[in-house]
Amino acid sequence: MKTFVIANQKGGVGKTTTTINLGASLAKQGKKVLLIDLDPQANLSSGVGFSQQFARESWNNTETAPYKSIYNVLVESTPIASTFVTTSIPNLFLVPSHLSLAGAEIEMVNMLSRETLLKKALSEFKEPFDYVLIDCPPSLGLLTINALCAADQLIIPIQCEYFALEGLGQLLETIKLIKSVNAGLEIGGVVLTMFDSRTKLSESVVNDVREFFKETVFNTVVPRNVRLSEAPSHGMTIAEYDPNSTGGIAYENLAKEFIKRFG
Ligand SMILES: Nc1ncnc2c1ncn2[C@@H]1O[C@H](COP(=O)(O)OP(=O)(O)O)[C@@H](O)[C@H]1O
Ligand SMILES: [Mg+2]
Repeated sequence: MKTFVIANQKGGVGKTTTTINLGASLAKQGKKVLLIDLDPQANLSSGVGFSQQFARESWNNTETAPYKSIYNVLVESTPIASTFVTTSIPNLFLVPSHLSLAGAEIEMVNMLSRETLLKKALSEFKEPFDYVLIDCPPSLGLLTINALCAADQLIIPIQCEYFALEGLGQLLETIKLIKSVNAGLEIGGVVLTMFDSRTKLSESVVNDVREFFKETVFNTVVPRNVRLSEAPSHGMTIAEYDPNSTGGIAYENLAKEFIKRFG
């Protein structure tokens, strides 16, 4: 079981879109995949169709939540396996998020080994997944730190836009610090997202990122594609919503490259 953290403290760069659609494409290609939604905004959970209607009505109330989420795992030591839910794609499983996760970082501050709560939770189950993909919130807070401590590989989505590389220094510094706790953490891949072939800017960002991260950058570049932004509002991955769109094909190719790289 290989564990990947999808992180970049910038918001809106394609972390969640990549986690959902890479995960779905990997599952379609026969891998058993677990997605963990570590963002209180729960875009990953709703994006794979996790009880949207119900969620809207009850997610602001922890007490009556009928399901267990990653919040319970981190704050109440609920066994993570008891939070797994299925999705419409066989082989693709989810650990959902919950609005209460927004307060979790504060609740976790005084807990023992607060940086490694997720690592511990993942070490305590024997479910044979090929890949675990963890989607992070847009910050370098305790939730993201937990994901970085639990993972073998970091996948960094970078948007082909102005200031693409801005803030990455801070992420790389954080990784250096994490290595004292999780020595094995590597930068497994960089995914270029929202590429716009009509602009010279996208092209120049691609060149800058390849120059900096070399062969760590996946060959597959994800284009800006409206189908990718529509799919989550239907609670569908692109593999279900429009697999033949440019976005659908890109994530299918990214999954192939991913399997080649990580086995
Ligand atoms: N390749 C893409 N083409 C078009 N829209 C995209 C693409 N990737 C992401 N988006 C949209 O951009 C927004 C931010 O993406 P998201 O994956 O939520 O970023 P993050 O998780 O890093 O905050 C979302 O509305 C998403 O639907
Ligand atoms: Mg997100």
